[in-house]
Amino acid sequence: MNRARPKLVTLSGLVLALFLLSALVAPAAAPAAERRPAPIYEEGPKSRDGIGKFYLGREISQVMGHEGADWLERPERLREESPELLHELLGLKRGMVVADIGAGTGYHSWRMARQVGPSGKVYAVDIQPEMLALIAVNMPARGVSNVVGVLGTTTSPKLPANSLDLVLMVDVYHEFNQPHEMLTAISQSLKSGGRVAFVEYRAEDPLVPIKGLHKMTEAQVRLEAERHNLVWVETHAELPWQHLILFRKR
Ligand SMILES: C[S@@+](CC[C@H](N)C(=O)[O-])C[C@H]1O[C@@H](n2cnc3c(N)ncnc32)[C@H](O)[C@@H]1O
Repeated sequence: MNRARPKLVTLSGLVLALFLLSALVAPAAAPAAERRPAPIYEEGPKSRDGIGKFYLGREISQVMGHEGADWLERPERLREESPELLHELLGLKRGMVVADIGAGTGYHSWRMARQVGPSGKVYAVDIQPEMLALIAVNMPARGVSNVVGVLGTTTSPKLPANSLDLVLMVDVYHEFNQPHEMLTAISQSLKSGGRVAFVEYRAEDPLVPIKGLHKMTEAQVRLEAERHNLVWVETHAELPWQHLILFRKR
């Protein structure tokens, strides 16, 4: 009886030693590929209007070239998009500092500039210098002097940190080449409690006559935005073809 006991101790000691050894050795032995973080984007079949790069199941659309600038100023837009109603819904106030990211010709920048007034400021950001050249001509022609043009990159709008009350993106987010990086940078540029407004053509509505990749569902916008420091506030469906989806920085 007495002789069996040391044998038991030896066995359990051995099991413990093996367990400790495996815990120490296993992580170091894992192949390097297993330790790499999952890629943010995926590649897939490229559709006619897309770039063959996917984010959370959505194919990213091609960027609208500056050659199409006239389309942004088409008179029918007033009927199709009700920009005045959109700006009412945004709740802009005098003195606010806001950004129009993917500003194009500045179709929304000058409207915001009037609402925030001379004590406020609008950053009009685009990645195409040709669009910024149009903004530089169009803003004085509209009688506003509080719009500042900014040449952004595909990963950052190059805006000062913690400085904005509102970021507006009209018909642009779906064509961001690096949406994850852009939203990280946008969130950093907002003040605490600042808001970001996505305005996208409603993909849920087959009657909205816009190409598939240029539309987004509310669910997809929320899936992508809520990965960041942003909390959903409300969604407006009063606009003719678009939804306005608003988030607030935590
Ligand atoms: C379809 S236009 C919309 C213009 C404007 N928001 C409007 O509603 O009239 C999209 C614009 O977004 C710009 N854009 C695309 N990716 C961008 C990015 N990562 N940062 C800033 N602008 C971007 C394009 O150059 C283009 O001028």
